[in-house]
Amino acid sequence: MSACRRSVSRGVGLVYVLALVASANAQQTSKTTAQGVFTEAQATRGQKAYADSCARCHAEDLLGASGPALVGDFFTNRFVGSNVQEMVKTIRRSMPQEAPDSLGTPMYVDIATFILKSNGSPTGSAELPNDAEALLQIEVASR
Ligand code: HEC
Repeated sequence: MSACRRSVSRGVGLVYVLALVASANAQQTSKTTAQGVFTEAQATRGQKAYADSCARCHAEDLLGASGPALVGDFFTNRFVGSNVQEMVKTIRRSMPQEAPDSLGTPMYVDIATFILKSNGSPTGSAELPNDAEALLQIEVASR
């Protein structure tokens, strides 16, 4: 009887620990890109950097060339529902294809704002910050 009770309480403890782990892993986003999380000027800087470093493979209009289109279904399937930090990290660690991680965080963040804007995200009054913790809080919305 007492052995039985002990195993029940161990089971309850395990459920509690699993619940804690689950809540720590859940995305704690507090904003979305539908709320105007970057400025027009920042997206324009991003567009310039994109033209210099990305357009030759993904096209000026982001519809794709040797690399995939960065607007439309690709964007939706790859990034919507994720967070902006995940998006910036994905681009930084693999692009430009011949020189990954070569542009510096501010430029990758600017380029991300241009890609967001090209997918219909609205501009706002404050720039998207370069801080990874802050970017983790922002969910990528479909527009
Ligand atoms: C030399 C050509 C080339 C350049 C320059 C280039 N890309 Fe790419 N990119 C590709 C190719 C090819 C793929 C598909 C294969 C892959 O994911 O590596 C790709 C894939 C991607 C993906 C999808 C990655 C994923 O994990 O799904 C993104 C986003 C992207 N590029 C953004 C950019 C951005 C932003 C720049 C500029 C900073 C850039 N690319 C520069 C060729 C290029």
